[in-house]
Amino acid sequence: MNYLVTGAAGYIGSHTVRELLARGARRVVAVDSLVRGHRGAIEALERVADGRLRFVHLDLRDRAALAALLAEERPDAVLHFAAFTLVGESVAHPAMYWSCGVGGTSSLLEAMRAAGTERMVFSSTAATYGAPERMPIAEDTPQVPVNPYGASKLACEAIIRGEVDAARAEGRAFGATMLRYFNVAGCASDGLLGEDHTPETHLVPSALQAALGQRPALQLFGTDYPTPDGTCIRDYVHVEDLATAHVDALQALHPHRCDAFNVGIGHGFSVREVFAECERVVGRPIPVQVAARRAGDPPVLLSDPARIMRELGWSPRHRTLTPMVESAWRWMQANPGGYPKP
Ligand code: UFG
Repeated sequence: MNYLVTGAAGYIGSHTVRELLARGARRVVAVDSLVRGHRGAIEALERVADGRLRFVHLDLRDRAALAALLAEERPDAVLHFAAFTLVGESVAHPAMYWSCGVGGTSSLLEAMRAAGTERMVFSSTAATYGAPERMPIAEDTPQVPVNPYGASKLACEAIIRGEVDAARAEGRAFGATMLRYFNVAGCASDGLLGEDHTPETHLVPSALQAALGQRPALQLFGTDYPTPDGTCIRDYVHVEDLATAHVDALQALHPHRCDAFNVGIGHGFSVREVFAECERVVGRPIPVQVAARRAGDPPVLLSDPARIMRELGWSPRHRTLTPMVESAWRWMQANPGGYPKP
Protein backbone atom coordinates (compact mmCIF):
# COMPACT_ATOMS: atom_id res chain seq x y z
CA MET A 1 0.00 0.00 0.00
CA ASN A 2 0.95 3.65 -0.44
CA TYR A 3 0.76 5.85 2.64
CA LEU A 4 0.87 9.56 3.27
CA VAL A 5 2.02 10.54 6.75
CA THR A 6 1.64 14.11 8.02
CA GLY A 7 3.96 15.26 10.79
CA ALA A 8 6.31 12.50 9.64
CA ALA A 9 9.42 14.30 10.91
CA GLY A 10 8.07 14.50 14.47
CA TYR A 11 8.52 12.12 17.38
CA ILE A 12 5.55 9.76 16.96
CA GLY A 13 5.16 10.32 13.21
CA SER A 14 8.75 9.29 12.46
CA HIS A 15 8.53 6.14 14.58
CA THR A 16 5.30 5.21 12.79
CA VAL A 17 6.85 5.75 9.32
CA ARG A 18 9.54 3.35 10.39
CA GLU A 19 6.94 0.76 11.43
CA LEU A 20 5.14 1.15 8.08
CA LEU A 21 8.43 0.58 6.23
CA ALA A 22 9.26 -2.40 8.43
CA ARG A 23 5.86 -3.94 7.66
CA GLY A 24 6.46 -3.72 3.93
CA ALA A 25 4.90 -0.42 2.82
CA ARG A 26 5.38 0.03 -0.91
CA ARG A 27 5.74 3.82 -0.64
CA VAL A 28 5.52 6.37 2.16
CA VAL A 29 5.07 10.05 1.38
CA ALA A 30 6.33 11.89 4.46
CA VAL A 31 4.92 15.40 4.83
CA ASP A 32 6.14 17.89 7.41
CA SER A 33 6.33 21.69 7.76
CA LEU A 34 9.57 21.26 9.75
CA VAL A 35 8.33 23.89 12.22
CA ARG A 36 8.73 21.31 15.01
CA GLY A 37 9.78 18.25 13.01
CA HIS A 38 13.38 17.41 12.13
CA ARG A 39 15.02 16.89 8.76
CA GLY A 40 17.40 14.61 10.69
CA ALA A 41 14.52 12.22 11.41
CA ILE A 42 13.70 12.06 7.69
CA GLU A 43 17.37 11.48 6.84
CA ALA A 44 17.48 8.62 9.35
CA LEU A 45 14.34 7.08 7.83
CA GLU A 46 15.81 7.42 4.32
CA ARG A 47 18.70 5.23 5.45
CA VAL A 48 16.33 2.29 6.07
CA ALA A 49 13.70 2.99 3.38
CA ASP A 50 15.34 1.41 0.30
CA GLY A 51 14.03 4.26 -1.84
CA ARG A 52 10.42 3.84 -0.65
CA LEU A 53 10.27 7.21 1.13
CA ARG A 54 9.51 10.59 -0.42
CA PHE A 55 9.77 13.69 1.78
CA VAL A 56 7.63 16.73 0.98
CA HIS A 57 8.15 19.99 2.90
CA LEU A 58 4.64 21.36 3.26
CA ASP A 59 2.25 23.08 5.65
CA LEU A 60 -1.13 21.33 5.47
CA ARG A 61 -2.88 24.69 5.38
CA ASP A 62 -1.40 25.23 1.89
CA ARG A 63 -4.54 23.74 0.38
CA ALA A 64 -3.48 23.98 -3.26
CA ALA A 65 -0.10 22.31 -2.71
CA LEU A 66 -1.63 19.59 -0.52
CA ALA A 67 -4.40 18.85 -3.03
CA ALA A 68 -1.81 18.65 -5.84
CA LEU A 69 0.31 16.25 -3.79
CA LEU A 70 -2.60 13.90 -3.03
CA ALA A 71 -3.81 14.06 -6.63
CA GLU A 72 -0.32 13.04 -7.75
CA GLU A 73 0.33 10.34 -5.14
CA ARG A 74 -3.22 8.99 -4.60
CA PRO A 75 -2.28 7.32 -1.30
CA ASP A 76 -4.34 4.37 -0.08
CA ALA A 77 -4.32 5.74 3.46
CA VAL A 78 -3.31 8.80 5.45
CA LEU A 79 -1.86 8.83 8.96
CA HIS A 80 -2.32 12.31 10.36
CA PHE A 81 0.07 13.42 13.10
CA ALA A 82 0.89 17.03 12.15
CA ALA A 83 -0.03 19.32 15.06
CA PHE A 84 1.38 21.36 17.89
CA THR A 85 1.26 19.23 21.04
CA LEU A 86 2.12 21.22 24.16
CA VAL A 87 -0.64 21.86 26.67
CA GLY A 88 1.01 24.91 28.26
CA GLU A 89 1.78 26.48 24.88
CA SER A 90 -1.82 25.94 23.80
CA VAL A 91 -3.03 27.96 26.79
CA ALA A 92 -0.62 30.80 25.97
CA HIS A 93 -1.20 30.72 22.18
CA PRO A 94 -4.58 29.09 21.48
CA ALA A 95 -4.92 30.49 17.96
CA MET A 96 -1.94 28.54 16.66
CA TYR A 97 -3.48 25.32 17.99
CA TRP A 98 -6.85 25.96 16.38
CA SER A 99 -5.38 27.12 13.09
CA CYS A 100 -2.86 24.31 12.68
CA GLY A 101 -5.06 21.57 14.11
CA VAL A 102 -8.46 22.34 12.65
CA GLY A 103 -7.21 24.23 9.57
CA GLY A 104 -4.71 21.50 8.69
CA THR A 105 -7.18 18.67 9.27
CA SER A 106 -9.94 20.23 7.19
CA SER A 107 -7.52 20.95 4.34
CA LEU A 108 -6.32 17.35 4.52
CA LEU A 109 -9.86 15.91 4.45
CA GLU A 110 -10.71 18.05 1.42
CA ALA A 111 -7.61 16.85 -0.44
CA MET A 112 -8.32 13.21 0.51
CA ARG A 113 -11.89 13.50 -0.77
CA ALA A 114 -10.70 14.88 -4.11
CA ALA A 115 -8.03 12.17 -4.45
CA GLY A 116 -10.35 9.34 -3.41
CA THR A 117 -8.26 8.36 -0.37
CA GLU A 118 -10.59 6.45 1.91
CA ARG A 119 -8.69 5.60 5.09
CA MET A 120 -7.40 7.82 7.84
CA VAL A 121 -5.80 7.21 11.21
CA PHE A 122 -5.82 10.31 13.38
CA SER A 123 -3.45 11.15 16.18
CA SER A 124 -5.75 12.17 19.04
CA THR A 125 -5.06 12.46 22.71
CA ALA A 126 -6.18 11.69 26.23
CA ALA A 127 -6.29 15.48 26.61
CA THR A 128 -9.69 15.36 24.84
CA TYR A 129 -11.10 13.80 28.04
CA GLY A 130 -9.97 16.68 30.24
CA ALA A 131 -9.70 15.67 33.89
CA PRO A 132 -12.36 13.01 34.51
CA GLU A 133 -12.90 11.84 38.07
CA ARG A 134 -13.39 8.18 37.27
CA MET A 135 -10.31 6.14 36.41
CA PRO A 136 -9.38 4.33 34.26
CA ILE A 137 -10.68 6.27 31.26
CA ALA A 138 -12.66 4.25 28.71
CA GLU A 139 -13.53 5.61 25.27
CA ASP A 140 -17.12 6.42 26.28
CA THR A 141 -15.94 8.76 29.04
CA PRO A 142 -17.34 12.23 28.25
CA GLN A 143 -14.79 14.34 26.38
CA VAL A 144 -14.53 17.63 28.25
CA PRO A 145 -11.14 19.10 27.40
CA VAL A 146 -9.62 21.61 29.81
CA ASN A 147 -7.15 23.33 27.48
CA PRO A 148 -7.00 24.49 23.82
CA TYR A 149 -4.75 21.57 22.88
CA GLY A 150 -7.37 19.02 23.94
CA ALA A 151 -10.23 21.19 22.62
CA SER A 152 -8.65 21.57 19.17
CA LYS A 153 -7.97 17.81 18.94
CA LEU A 154 -11.59 17.14 19.91
CA ALA A 155 -12.73 19.53 17.17
CA CYS A 156 -10.56 17.59 14.70
CA GLU A 157 -12.24 14.36 15.83
CA ALA A 158 -15.60 16.03 15.17
CA ILE A 159 -14.78 17.12 11.62
CA ILE A 160 -13.33 13.69 10.83
CA ARG A 161 -16.51 12.08 12.17
CA GLY A 162 -18.48 14.55 10.03
CA GLU A 163 -16.52 13.45 6.96
CA VAL A 164 -17.36 9.79 7.69
CA ASP A 165 -21.07 10.74 7.94
CA ALA A 166 -20.88 12.74 4.70
CA ALA A 167 -19.13 9.89 2.91
CA ARG A 168 -21.76 7.41 4.09
CA ALA A 169 -24.54 9.71 2.83
CA GLU A 170 -22.78 10.12 -0.53
CA GLY A 171 -21.93 6.45 -0.95
CA ARG A 172 -18.19 6.93 -0.52
CA ALA A 173 -16.26 4.36 1.50
CA PHE A 174 -14.32 6.73 3.78
CA GLY A 175 -13.46 5.40 7.25
CA ALA A 176 -11.36 6.78 10.08
CA THR A 177 -9.88 5.70 13.37
CA MET A 178 -8.87 8.03 16.18
CA LEU A 179 -6.13 6.89 18.53
CA ARG A 180 -6.24 8.72 21.86
CA TYR A 181 -2.78 8.42 23.33
CA PHE A 182 -1.87 8.76 26.93
CA ASN A 183 1.78 9.54 27.80
CA VAL A 184 4.41 8.44 25.31
CA ALA A 185 8.06 7.74 26.09
CA GLY A 186 11.14 5.97 24.74
CA CYS A 187 12.82 5.82 21.35
CA ALA A 188 13.57 3.31 18.60
CA SER A 189 15.34 0.44 20.32
CA ASP A 190 18.22 0.47 17.80
CA GLY A 191 18.80 4.22 18.24
CA LEU A 192 17.77 5.23 14.71
CA LEU A 193 15.16 7.76 15.88
CA GLY A 194 14.72 9.81 19.00
CA GLU A 195 12.69 12.40 20.87
CA ASP A 196 13.75 16.01 20.28
CA HIS A 197 11.39 18.79 21.31
CA THR A 198 12.22 22.48 21.65
CA PRO A 199 11.30 23.43 24.26
CA GLU A 200 11.41 20.02 25.97
CA THR A 201 8.69 19.79 28.61
CA HIS A 202 8.09 16.03 28.88
CA LEU A 203 9.08 14.24 32.03
CA VAL A 204 11.49 11.53 30.84
CA PRO A 205 13.62 13.65 28.45
CA SER A 206 13.60 16.54 30.94
CA ALA A 207 14.97 14.29 33.70
CA LEU A 208 17.60 12.91 31.31
CA GLN A 209 18.58 16.44 30.24
CA ALA A 210 19.16 17.21 33.94
CA ALA A 211 21.34 14.08 34.14
CA LEU A 212 23.39 15.37 31.19
CA GLY A 213 23.76 18.82 32.82
CA GLN A 214 21.67 20.42 30.07
CA ARG A 215 19.34 21.89 32.68
CA PRO A 216 20.19 22.64 36.31
CA ALA A 217 17.68 20.15 37.77
CA LEU A 218 14.45 18.32 37.07
CA GLN A 219 11.60 20.36 38.50
CA LEU A 220 9.06 18.14 40.28
CA PHE A 221 5.83 19.96 39.51
CA GLY A 222 3.79 19.43 42.67
CA THR A 223 4.30 16.97 45.50
CA ASP A 224 0.98 17.62 47.24
CA TYR A 225 -1.41 15.81 44.90
CA PRO A 226 -3.93 13.35 46.37
CA THR A 227 -1.83 10.35 45.24
CA PRO A 228 0.21 7.86 47.32
CA ASP A 229 3.52 9.78 46.95
CA GLY A 230 2.00 13.22 46.28
CA THR A 231 3.06 13.39 42.60
CA CYS A 232 0.93 12.99 39.47
CA ILE A 233 0.31 9.55 38.01
CA ARG A 234 0.40 8.91 34.25
CA ASP A 235 0.03 5.92 31.93
CA TYR A 236 3.18 5.60 29.77
CA VAL A 237 3.27 3.75 26.46
CA HIS A 238 6.48 3.00 24.54
CA VAL A 239 6.63 4.95 21.28
CA GLU A 240 7.32 1.73 19.33
CA ASP A 241 4.16 0.13 20.77
CA LEU A 242 2.25 3.26 19.82
CA ALA A 243 3.62 3.05 16.26
CA THR A 244 2.44 -0.56 16.09
CA ALA A 245 -1.03 0.53 17.23
CA HIS A 246 -1.27 2.88 14.22
CA VAL A 247 -0.47 0.19 11.71
CA ASP A 248 -2.82 -2.28 13.45
CA ALA A 249 -5.57 0.37 13.35
CA LEU A 250 -4.99 0.97 9.67
CA GLN A 251 -5.18 -2.70 8.83
CA ALA A 252 -8.46 -3.10 10.74
CA LEU A 253 -10.06 0.09 9.45
CA HIS A 254 -13.63 -0.33 8.16
CA PRO A 255 -15.05 1.84 5.39
CA HIS A 256 -17.99 3.97 6.62
CA ARG A 257 -16.89 3.57 10.23
CA CYS A 258 -15.39 5.97 12.69
CA ASP A 259 -13.80 4.27 15.69
CA ALA A 260 -11.84 5.61 18.64
CA PHE A 261 -9.34 3.69 20.74
CA ASN A 262 -7.32 4.61 23.79
CA VAL A 263 -3.64 3.73 23.61
CA GLY A 264 -2.00 3.20 26.97
CA ILE A 265 -0.90 0.23 29.03
CA GLY A 266 -3.62 0.62 31.65
CA HIS A 267 -1.13 1.03 34.46
CA GLY A 268 0.21 4.22 36.01
CA PHE A 269 3.52 5.49 37.34
CA SER A 270 3.99 8.52 39.53
CA VAL A 271 6.40 11.32 38.65
CA ARG A 272 8.63 10.18 41.54
CA GLU A 273 8.60 6.60 40.21
CA VAL A 274 9.58 7.78 36.73
CA PHE A 275 12.31 9.94 38.19
CA ALA A 276 13.64 7.03 40.29
CA GLU A 277 13.77 4.85 37.15
CA CYS A 278 15.69 7.60 35.33
CA GLU A 279 18.25 7.71 38.17
CA ARG A 280 18.54 3.91 38.13
CA VAL A 281 19.13 3.79 34.36
CA VAL A 282 21.58 6.70 34.40
CA GLY A 283 23.37 5.11 37.36
CA ARG A 284 23.83 8.25 39.42
CA PRO A 285 21.72 10.84 41.25
CA ILE A 286 20.02 13.42 39.02
CA PRO A 287 19.63 16.95 40.39
CA VAL A 288 16.01 17.57 41.35
CA GLN A 289 14.03 20.46 42.76
CA VAL A 290 10.50 20.49 44.17
CA ALA A 291 8.45 23.13 42.37
CA ALA A 292 4.86 24.37 42.40
CA ARG A 293 2.13 22.45 40.57
CA ARG A 294 2.06 23.06 36.81
CA ALA A 295 -1.23 24.65 35.75
CA GLY A 296 -3.65 22.22 34.13
CA ASP A 297 -2.06 18.95 35.31
CA PRO A 298 -4.75 16.48 36.46
CA PRO A 299 -3.57 14.32 39.41
CA VAL A 300 -4.16 10.97 37.68
CA LEU A 301 -4.64 9.92 34.03
CA LEU A 302 -5.00 6.21 33.39
CA SER A 303 -6.28 4.54 30.25
CA ASP A 304 -8.56 1.59 29.94
CA PRO A 305 -7.02 -0.01 26.81
CA ALA A 306 -9.44 -2.98 26.76
CA ARG A 307 -11.10 -1.93 23.48
CA ILE A 308 -7.92 -1.73 21.38
CA MET A 309 -6.70 -5.01 22.86
CA ARG A 310 -9.99 -6.74 22.18
CA GLU A 311 -10.90 -5.29 18.77
CA LEU A 312 -7.48 -4.80 17.16
CA GLY A 313 -5.55 -7.47 19.05
CA TRP A 314 -2.98 -4.81 20.00
CA SER A 315 -0.91 -5.51 23.04
CA PRO A 316 2.04 -3.46 24.28
CA ARG A 317 5.38 -5.27 24.14
CA HIS A 318 6.70 -2.99 26.88
CA ARG A 319 4.81 -2.76 30.17
CA THR A 320 7.51 -1.28 32.37
CA LEU A 321 9.36 2.02 32.38
CA THR A 322 12.79 0.42 31.96
CA PRO A 323 12.85 -0.02 28.14
CA MET A 324 11.33 3.43 27.68
CA VAL A 325 13.94 5.17 29.84
CA GLU A 326 16.84 3.01 28.60
CA SER A 327 16.12 3.69 24.92
CA ALA A 328 15.61 7.42 25.58
CA TRP A 329 18.89 7.56 27.53
CA ARG A 330 20.84 5.73 24.82
CA TRP A 331 19.58 8.14 22.15
CA MET A 332 20.27 11.22 24.25
CA GLN A 333 23.79 10.11 25.04
CA ALA A 334 24.47 9.46 21.36
CA ASN A 335 22.73 12.70 20.29
CA PRO A 336 23.17 15.15 23.18
CA GLY A 337 22.03 18.09 21.05
CA GLY A 338 19.14 16.15 19.52
CA TYR A 339 18.94 15.82 15.73
CA PRO A 340 21.52 17.91 13.83
CA LYS A 341 20.09 21.42 13.44
CA PRO A 342 20.43 23.22 10.08
N1 UFG B 1 6.56 16.81 35.09
C1 UFG B 1 7.41 17.28 36.07
N2 UFG B 1 8.54 17.94 35.67
C2 UFG B 1 8.85 18.16 34.35
C3 UFG B 1 7.97 17.67 33.36
C4 UFG B 1 6.82 17.01 33.76
O1 UFG B 1 7.16 17.12 37.25
O2 UFG B 1 9.88 18.80 34.06
C5 UFG B 1 5.34 16.09 35.48
C6 UFG B 1 4.08 16.82 35.02
O3 UFG B 1 3.70 17.79 35.95
C7 UFG B 1 3.10 15.65 34.88
C8 UFG B 1 3.99 14.47 34.48
O4 UFG B 1 5.32 14.85 34.83
O5 UFG B 1 2.54 15.38 36.13
C9 UFG B 1 3.95 14.17 33.00
O6 UFG B 1 4.18 15.38 32.29
P1 UFG B 1 4.50 15.42 30.73
O7 UFG B 1 4.73 16.86 30.37
O8 UFG B 1 5.57 14.45 30.41
O9 UFG B 1 3.17 14.89 30.06
P2 UFG B 1 1.65 15.39 30.23
O10 UFG B 1 0.95 14.34 31.08
O11 UFG B 1 1.55 16.77 30.70
O12 UFG B 1 1.12 15.41 28.74
C10 UFG B 1 1.27 14.32 27.85
C11 UFG B 1 1.37 14.86 26.43
C12 UFG B 1 0.09 15.50 26.02
C13 UFG B 1 -1.06 14.55 26.23
C14 UFG B 1 -1.08 14.03 27.65
C15 UFG B 1 -2.17 13.01 27.79
O13 UFG B 1 2.42 15.81 26.33
O14 UFG B 1 0.17 15.85 24.65
O15 UFG B 1 0.19 13.44 27.96
O16 UFG B 1 -2.00 12.24 28.95
F1 UFG B 1 -2.22 15.17 26.01
